[in-house]
Amino acid sequence: MKRAAFVIGVAVLVAGPALATEPDAITWSQIPTKDVTLFFPGETSYQWLRSAGHKNPLKGNVQGQRCISCHQGQEAALGNKLVQEGPLEPTPIADKNGVLNLAVQAAHDDEYLYFRFQWKTNMDREGRMHNMVRYDGTGWQWFGGHRAEDAVIDGAQPPIYEDRLAIMLDDGSVPGFAEQGCWLACHDSMRDMQEPPDAAAVRENFYLGAILNKKDVRKFLPLSRTDEEASWDTLKTPGEIAELKAAGQFLDLMQWRAARSNPVGMADDGYVLEYRLFDAGRKMFSWNIDKKTMTPKFMFDEAKVGFSALRVEDFTDSSKPTFIIEEQNATPYDPNAGFQEGDILPGRLLSAQTEGSAGDNDWAKGTWKDSMYTVVFRRKLDTGNPLDDKILEVGGVYTIGLSVHDDNVTTRFHQVSFPLTLGIGTKADIEAVTLK
Ligand code: HEC
Repeated sequence: MKRAAFVIGVAVLVAGPALATEPDAITWSQIPTKDVTLFFPGETSYQWLRSAGHKNPLKGNVQGQRCISCHQGQEAALGNKLVQEGPLEPTPIADKNGVLNLAVQAAHDDEYLYFRFQWKTNMDREGRMHNMVRYDGTGWQWFGGHRAEDAVIDGAQPPIYEDRLAIMLDDGSVPGFAEQGCWLACHDSMRDMQEPPDAAAVRENFYLGAILNKKDVRKFLPLSRTDEEASWDTLKTPGEIAELKAAGQFLDLMQWRAARSNPVGMADDGYVLEYRLFDAGRKMFSWNIDKKTMTPKFMFDEAKVGFSALRVEDFTDSSKPTFIIEEQNATPYDPNAGFQEGDILPGRLLSAQTEGSAGDNDWAKGTWKDSMYTVVFRRKLDTGNPLDDKILEVGGVYTIGLSVHDDNVTTRFHQVSFPLTLGIGTKADIEAVTLK
């Protein structure tokens, strides 16, 4: 990915440039803002919604019942309740915010869809660290973790996990997504939910283990399973799944990641069908550590950044990078570089040299200031990759679900939206206005 020079001071709404617009150059102050209330969902899964635990159990597979036909305006009340200990939150996180207000703006031209998101963070620093390793005097050990991890709850490790913003999107191909949004993809069998199967059982599964090489369950669509309950292990055959995918019966899932994509100015690109998977090609992050030997692959290039490893106090020093980018500030790891106890290296390696569909979201920039994130993002309307992206059209109306992982959390410990409509140059809950 190569970033073109920024177009400065162009009043796009008045007289736009003929070339593709840099999202930064859009006059965002002139684009309407939709305030969306995201809320903490606890363990409200596809299965729970259809159980007696939900006072009005949803019937069958997909009945077209819209969450907001009964819950309009209840987001804040639901989030503030679900974030507390209870039947749907067995492991509450101390001081967790149940509600997150997300300001959403959208625009488009002939080539791109643009978004700008803003939200206040629960914490007074950026979540720009992820999978760090610390030198203990003899070797490298994982340092920190997300806030639902035992070692973090015990205080043995500090909370260290990246902030994220995710967009799930469908064009009407997935039955029920317009009505029930992200809840179609969320199941009791997933990590950190009610009944995750153990790793051995997943490995033995004819599909998740044998074909996908997985050891846990992540998001999936009920239409990829053979039973009405949408059990984790009843997958359709590889041939049937391939047919669903070719017919566009998947959700597009794009994530802006403060540690693993933002430093290279990108967002990741994935999809949800039989699992949450990345699009074909090479994405922007990989491991910077051999997990068997706990040996880093790269360290910081001292000649370029002035140090070969970080110290913990550097985490809040925005002049110092907390990420290693292969083509920018990295040099091969040298065990004799004189590491001291307490030196820290990123366990992830970034590169903007992506390949294929996995690199489609090639312009995303998040900045954090005064406890507020501003994330600007663009995505091609037609990525040219219909096998793992939704192809968008001017005049089209789509369904999106939004989520934010705020303050060192992962998996279900995010805040989410009910499904929203997105109109490209046409009226909807969120209207992407036409740039002229
Ligand atoms: C036909 C109406 C209806 C629909 C559709 C519906 N619900 Fe509910 N839901 C209810 C009722 C009634 C309650 C109980 C409210 C109460 O106890 O005050 C409830 C409760 C809840 C609760 C609160 C649980 C608790 O412990 O307080 C959540 C969360 C919830 N629903 C989520 C959803 C989601 C997500 C959807 C869409 C996938 C949905 N509901 C669709 C009627 C509905």
